[in-house]
Amino acid sequence: IALPTNLFKDRENAPGIDLSNPEAWENIAQNTDDFASKPRSLFFYPKPKGKQVKVFSPANPEECLGEVPFPPEEDIENMLSLTASYAEEWDRLPVEQRAEKVKKLAKEIWENRDELLYLLCAEAGKTVPSALSEIREAIDFCNYYAKETTRLFAHPHLLPGPRGEENKLHYHGCGLWVCISPWNFPLSIFIGQIVAALLSGNVVAAKPAEETPLIATAAINLAYKAGIPREVLSLILGDGQSGKIMINHPLVRGVAFTGSTKTAKNIALYLSQKEGPIVPFIAETGGINCMVVDATAAIERAVKDILVSAFDNAGQRCSSLRLLLVQKEISDSILDLLSDATQSLIVGDPRFSETDVGPIIRKSLLEELQKFSCFFETQGRLLAKAPMGKTASSNGFFFAPQLFEIPSVDLVNQEIFGPILPVVRYSRNDLSYRLKEIHQKGFGLTMGLQTRLESLTQKLCFSAPVGNFYVNRSMIGAVVESQPFGGEGLSGTGPKAGGPNYLLRFVRERTCTINT
Ligand code: NAD
Ligand code: ALA
Repeated sequence: IALPTNLFKDRENAPGIDLSNPEAWENIAQNTDDFASKPRSLFFYPKPKGKQVKVFSPANPEECLGEVPFPPEEDIENMLSLTASYAEEWDRLPVEQRAEKVKKLAKEIWENRDELLYLLCAEAGKTVPSALSEIREAIDFCNYYAKETTRLFAHPHLLPGPRGEENKLHYHGCGLWVCISPWNFPLSIFIGQIVAALLSGNVVAAKPAEETPLIATAAINLAYKAGIPREVLSLILGDGQSGKIMINHPLVRGVAFTGSTKTAKNIALYLSQKEGPIVPFIAETGGINCMVVDATAAIERAVKDILVSAFDNAGQRCSSLRLLLVQKEISDSILDLLSDATQSLIVGDPRFSETDVGPIIRKSLLEELQKFSCFFETQGRLLAKAPMGKTASSNGFFFAPQLFEIPSVDLVNQEIFGPILPVVRYSRNDLSYRLKEIHQKGFGLTMGLQTRLESLTQKLCFSAPVGNFYVNRSMIGAVVESQPFGGEGLSGTGPKAGGPNYLLRFVRERTCTINT
C-alpha cells in the first residue's frame, strides 16, 4: 500500500495546555481537586457481578480512589460471547460511520481532560505534563486511525485481470478481538488498541491492567458517550487470570497485547494450544534500550536527553533508557554533569508543578528496584541519587532516581522498569563489540545516539536491530504518525502503533473474482 502523498496536508495533533503559564497549573489544580472530592459514578455494561476491588493511589496507598468489580470467569465468558455475536453487524457498518464515532471519542477525551488528568495522576502516578501528553496521544490515536481507516478500507482495491474478469480485494473485520494493555499508558495504549480494532471492523473485549481500572472505565464511558455501541465494546476488569480466560475463549479471532515479554510469551503459548483457528497475535513489549554518547556529542544536550530518557515517568516507559554507553574521552564531563542533574530532580507528589519524578506503580516493583540498586552498588559504583522531595509521602511508593557506573554490559540482562540508570564507559574501538553484546540480549525496542558523526549515524540507523532509533534527542515520547512505535525480537511482533501499517494487521483480506 502506497503511503499517502499529502502526508502533511491534513496533519493535526491534539491541542495541549501551555504549562509554562502558572495560571494553567492553578486551573488544573482546582479542576482536578473537584474530581477528587466527587464520588465516582462508574457505568458498566452489562452490569458485572463479582468481587469488588479497591483501587489505591501509588503516591499515597492509604487513599482509596474507588471500587470496581472484577467479574468471575462465567461472566467474562458470557460477555465475550455476547460481544462476539455483534461482529457481523459492526463489520457491515460503513467505514466512514465507524470513523465518525471514533473522532467523536477524540473530542470527548479532550472535553473531559480534567477528569482524565486527575485519574492519570492519582491512579497511575503520572506527573501533570506526562498525563497531558498521554491524553494528547490518545486523541492522536483516535484521529489518525480514523483517517487511516477511511483511506485504507473505505473501498475495495481494484486489481488487474483479463477482460471480463473483475478482481477486488476487500477488507473485513476478523470478529472478536481481545485487547490487553499495561498500567504505564493506561489511557493512550488502552484506547489506541481498542479504536484500531473497532475501526477495522472488529468487535472488542478490552482488559486494562489491574492497577488502572478507573482510568479504563472512564475512557470506556466516553467511548459509549461518543456513540460507540455498548454491544461492540465490552470492558473486562481483572488481573492476568482474567486475561487468560479471555484469550482462551473459543470465539476470539485476534489478540492485541501490550505488556511484558514474559506475558506475551505466555499468551503465545495459550494461543498455540487452543482448538480452532490460528489466532492473529500482536505483542508490543519491553526492552533493554541503550544510548551511545560518542566523543563528538554536544555534551549539554546529551545530558538533558539522557535525563529525560531515563527518568521521565519514573523510568516506567517501555521506551526508557536502560543502559548508557559513554565514550571514555568525554565520560568524565558527561558523568559529572549527569550526576549534578540527577541530584537536582525533585521526587514527589505527581500533581505538583515542581515534581519531576512521581511514584512507582506498586510495592512489588519498588522492592524489585531496591534489589537492583543493591546489586549495582556491589558490582559497580553509585554516582548520584536524587533526594526525596518534601511531597513524597513516606508511605508512597517513591524511588529516587539513581545513576551507577558499572564495569560491563553483562550486568544488565533484563528490563529494569524504573529510574535506575547504569553507565558503561567504552573505548572507540570497542563500540561495535559492546553494541553486539547488547543486541545479543534479544530485545529491540528503542536506541539513542548522541554524535556529530554523520557516518556513525548512517551506519547505526541502517544496522541497529531496534524499532525506534533516535539521534541527538531523547528516546521517549514517540509522536503518532511521525514516529510509528514498536520493537522487534523480544520487544514485539510489530506492527508499529501510530503508523501507516498498523490497521492492516487487524483485518481479514478477501479476494473476490467475478467473471462478468
Ligand atoms: P504485564 O505483562 O504484567 O501486564 C500487561 C497486561 O497483561 C495486564 O493487563 C495484565 O493483567 C495482563 N496479563 C498478565 N498476565 C496475563 C496472562 N497470563 N494472560 C493474559 N493477560 C495477562 O505488564 P505490565 O507490568 O502491566 O506493563 C509493563 C510492561 O509493558 C513492561 O515490560 C513495558 O516495557 C511494557 N510496555 C510495552 C510497550 C510497547 O509499546 N512496546 C508500551 C508500554 C509498556
Ligand atoms: N510510545 C511511548 C514512548 O515513545 C511508549 O515513550
